[in-house]
Amino acid sequence: MNISIFGLGYVGCVGAACLAKLGHRVVGVDVNENKVRLINEGKPTIIEEGIAELCAEAHEKGLMSATMDVREAVHRTDVSFIVVGTPSSKEGHLNLNYIYAVAKQIGEALKDKTSAIGDCRLEIGNLKHIIAIRSTVLPGTNEKVGAIIAQASGLVRGKDFTIVSNPEFLREGTSVKDYFNPPLTLVGTDMPEAEAVFREIYKGIEAEFICTDIRVAEMMKYVNNTYHALKIVFGNEVGNICKELNIDSHKVMEIFCKDKQLNISPYYFKPGFAYGGSCLPKDMKALKTLAHDHYVEVPVIEAIGESNELQKRRAVQLIMAQGQRKVGILGLSFKSGTDDLRCSPIVDVVESLLGKGFEIRIYDKNVKVSELTGTNKDFIMAKIPHLQHFVTDDLEAVCRESDVLVVTNKEAEFADVLGRWPGKTVVDLVRQWKEVDYDGRYEGLSWGDVNANREGQEADVKRDFRQTEF
Ligand SMILES: NC(=O)c1ccc[n+]([C@@H]2O[C@H](COP(=O)([O-])OP(=O)(O)OC[C@H]3O[C@@H](n4cnc5c(N)ncnc54)[C@H](O)[C@@H]3O)[C@@H](O)[C@H]2O)c1
Repeated sequence: MNISIFGLGYVGCVGAACLAKLGHRVVGVDVNENKVRLINEGKPTIIEEGIAELCAEAHEKGLMSATMDVREAVHRTDVSFIVVGTPSSKEGHLNLNYIYAVAKQIGEALKDKTSAIGDCRLEIGNLKHIIAIRSTVLPGTNEKVGAIIAQASGLVRGKDFTIVSNPEFLREGTSVKDYFNPPLTLVGTDMPEAEAVFREIYKGIEAEFICTDIRVAEMMKYVNNTYHALKIVFGNEVGNICKELNIDSHKVMEIFCKDKQLNISPYYFKPGFAYGGSCLPKDMKALKTLAHDHYVEVPVIEAIGESNELQKRRAVQLIMAQGQRKVGILGLSFKSGTDDLRCSPIVDVVESLLGKGFEIRIYDKNVKVSELTGTNKDFIMAKIPHLQHFVTDDLEAVCRESDVLVVTNKEAEFADVLGRWPGKTVVDLVRQWKEVDYDGRYEGLSWGDVNANREGQEADVKRDFRQTEF
């Protein structure tokens, strides 16, 4: 395929040489004359293991060249990758000026590009060009770049051109190796034709090819890198505590990483409600206090509890924002299949709603108030002394008598709530339903609008939940 690459820095140079290695014909574009000259001499613009050999090989085969002429690059190619820098501003915002400048230039060049894409031999309608954003950009940038290109070219997105988001996952130092062995290949697009083109571009790369929503693709790089940073900081904080206690931190983390069921696994990673129960809050607090007692600062570990409290306040705010006073709580224990109420996060939510004068009905098939004993009973009686007035084992009655139904765990018996109770407002704290086709109002705690009937109601819900006091 014929590909132009805008930006011949770390990512652009590696991308150009690796795409040529995969058999594509690549034209690099940069505002830096020296980088353009280097590529035209078959030399890399950066130092990385293996890149010099790849550039020399691509040059010899006539598969890689560079230019400062945007129009020439756009007219000679079917796909343009944007790989210019996205530095931080002084205040920490992302500076997207280079991206927008390139978008405008590509748009102007597209104005008189006549040929439809031809070289890839795929069925792609009348598209004249596909633009791929490879730089790391915030969600919404794809749309903005599309608007800039449409305005500059006079062409129509989705008809004449399209823009995909194709984030880069390589790391400097091992970039060539990473390019050919990425954890996955990610393409965000709303056009199946563009997906087909990108499957063709990357067909020499074995990694799983994932095609997803544009905004999901745009978000991924930030989630990945923030998580990588979190891993480093967490490991360091554990190490610092271990050092004070004369414990070998590397042995600790090696064993930690061997647990592929709960530690290094998808478990606990789905957005949902706050954690609770008799272990997590207690043990988390104990480690934090241990660090404190040894004068070890652990700001990340300390922030975990506060973030968890925030999620409870968010639930309260979301329920309040529905503007209805009769609230049915479906599930009171800290997770399904138990009657353990200790540190159940929904108990704090109920306590807060009762304090604000909401009429509460609670259903939990496992919680029989008269049978509660020991620390379980002590905990709930300290929080909600008149619990017996609110709890029932009659799910139908709770649903019938409430305007808002709050689903707090994934008990199978709640699965048909939407079908059985059309018209009720449902607040889902656990993503009980992946997709919602509901004749009523549906609110997810940490996920967006999955119900078309909600239009115009977001504003109420977006009130500042941080102001909510328990
Ligand atoms: N460096 C990494 O390890 C890495 C990894 C993954 C993603 N990324 C992301 O990739 C993007 C590029 O990063 P980089 O490290 O390659 O940056 P870089 O600064 O090394 O390269 C950017 C290049 O873009 C060129 N450029 C600027 N304006 C231009 C224009 N109008 N037309 C053509 N070229 C222009 C610059 O001259 C420069 O050569 C960034 O968004 C970065 O966050 C970087």
